[in-house]
Amino acid sequence: MSLAQPEPVEVAAPIAFAVPFIDDTDVEAVGRVLRTGWLSTGSECEQLEQELAELVGAPHVVAVSSCTAALEIALDSLHLEPGSRVGVPTWTFAASASAVVHAGGTPVLLDVDPDTLNVAPSAVAAALDEGLDGLVVVHFAGTPVAREVFDLAEAAGVAVVEDAAHALGSEDDRGPISGRGTVGAAYSFYATKNLTSGEGGALATHDPEVAAFARTHRLHGMSKDAWRRYRVGADPTYDVTEPGLKANLPDVLAALARTQLAKFPAMQERRRQVVCRYHERLAAIDGVRLVPGTPDPRSADHLAVVVLPEGVDRQRVIEAFGAAQIGTSVHFRPLHRFTWFAANAPVGPAGTPVADALADRVISLPLHPALRDADVDRVVEVLAESLA
Ligand SMILES: Cc1ncc(COP(=O)(O)O)c(C=O)c1O
Repeated sequence: MSLAQPEPVEVAAPIAFAVPFIDDTDVEAVGRVLRTGWLSTGSECEQLEQELAELVGAPHVVAVSSCTAALEIALDSLHLEPGSRVGVPTWTFAASASAVVHAGGTPVLLDVDPDTLNVAPSAVAAALDEGLDGLVVVHFAGTPVAREVFDLAEAAGVAVVEDAAHALGSEDDRGPISGRGTVGAAYSFYATKNLTSGEGGALATHDPEVAAFARTHRLHGMSKDAWRRYRVGADPTYDVTEPGLKANLPDVLAALARTQLAKFPAMQERRRQVVCRYHERLAAIDGVRLVPGTPDPRSADHLAVVVLPEGVDRQRVIEAFGAAQIGTSVHFRPLHRFTWFAANAPVGPAGTPVADALADRVISLPLHPALRDADVDRVVEVLAESLA
């Protein structure tokens, strides 16, 4: 299928950092669910789980309220001893590490590879030598984490949880990112993600025990969800087998995720075109590079992160984009630079030299399927002017 062209706008009009691609099919699907009288988790959610499972080739997908919840469920399934050391790349969103804390562990913050900003195999190896009880990896911006990282963890007998918030649609040599050989892969359907339901997420896993745990843990540890208790003629009794979370995905949001999923291949195709155009256009600006430096055909192209030349005042660049009505963001401020993590999460034995060298040099450019070629050119023009 092809995407309908967005309404034409003047190139000088605001260029958003990320906007969801919403059309009538999304609006109709949400309206249809609203009229059924069943708004919480039910048949829409079950169908979304099946469709996602088909997309990523996983035997089990459990829809939840956010990627954060999916990470917490995956980590809770490990039943970590209090204070267990879990490696987490320092270059990530707070949720990757706070989920470890909520599961009773201590995040050990690891340095990243300068090209991909994914966790560096050397930092993982050093931390494993010192002793880790688990590892969270992040497929940053959609670029798949290096195979070596999974091999190192496997050789050390350390369980891996995949933060795939940016990686729905990414692939590595195991196939689509879906928790193959790991505890599971946690996707995000947050408003700025490549598939959105406003808020939402899912855990994909190849482990039936993790899947069974996730199904009860997402809803208070109850043996039966509301969909199975409230249907006419259903047995309303249930047991509570463990103190779970409240992290189910309502059908209203699941319906939106489903219509987004129908457009997902077309939206991803447009993302790829935009990323390739950024690569072409940015090649003309000295000292600026995208992350990673060459487009990775296996990436879900979730973010267009550029590394600015050394010594450039990033704030000045951000302000130039603001003045040109262009939205930008920063992914990420390394976790070891935040107050709580600095005080409570040790840095791994390899330190964080790469993250420290790049922390003040990255900026994320607009990237979404409704972006036009002329918008990309305008973004690059403003970047070049701000650096001149
Ligand atoms: C790398 C990463 N992990 C986890 C999350 C959390 O996702 P959610 O908002 O769905 O909980 C995000 C959200 O931006 C993220 O970027």
